[in-house]
Amino acid sequence: MASATMFKYLKIALFSLAFIALAACKKDKKTSVQNVNNNCVYSNAMQQQVNYTILSGSAQFFPLNVIGGYTYVAGYGLKGILVYRINTNQFVALERSCTHDGCDNANAFVKVLTGNTSVKDSICGSIFNITDGTIQNGPATVGLFQYHTSWDGNQLLIYN
Ligand code: FES
Repeated sequence: MASATMFKYLKIALFSLAFIALAACKKDKKTSVQNVNNNCVYSNAMQQQVNYTILSGSAQFFPLNVIGGYTYVAGYGLKGILVYRINTNQFVALERSCTHDGCDNANAFVKVLTGNTSVKDSICGSIFNITDGTIQNGPATVGLFQYHTSWDGNQLLIYN
């Protein structure tokens, strides 16, 4: 009798575990078919009012004085904006919210990796190119959202 009860509880436990695993996988299944048209970070970022200027003489611009330099702009976009200098007249402004699970996880944002060529997400470890936000390593399947930039030699405008 006791072994039958044990077996029943064991069966219930196994089914519960299988159910949880299936639910967790769902996120990955969703991610594998994502693109810029159905990614929630993209749709949310596009609705952000971003119109931010960094003056060339300012402390915030200092790291951008060199090609390959970067700075973080806090309080704009979804989780802040990463600004990187590609060359003398070209800058990129990337939304820091990770496109894999950025909408569901407040801590899913990217940081610059040593060497300033890639950025990495802090949750599941997706890696993106710093120059254009494209993916180097998953599980994310959509590149980082890019804001527009405009440089006139004195001020850098970041806008949406
Ligand atoms: S949240 Fe999973 S890789 Fe970014």
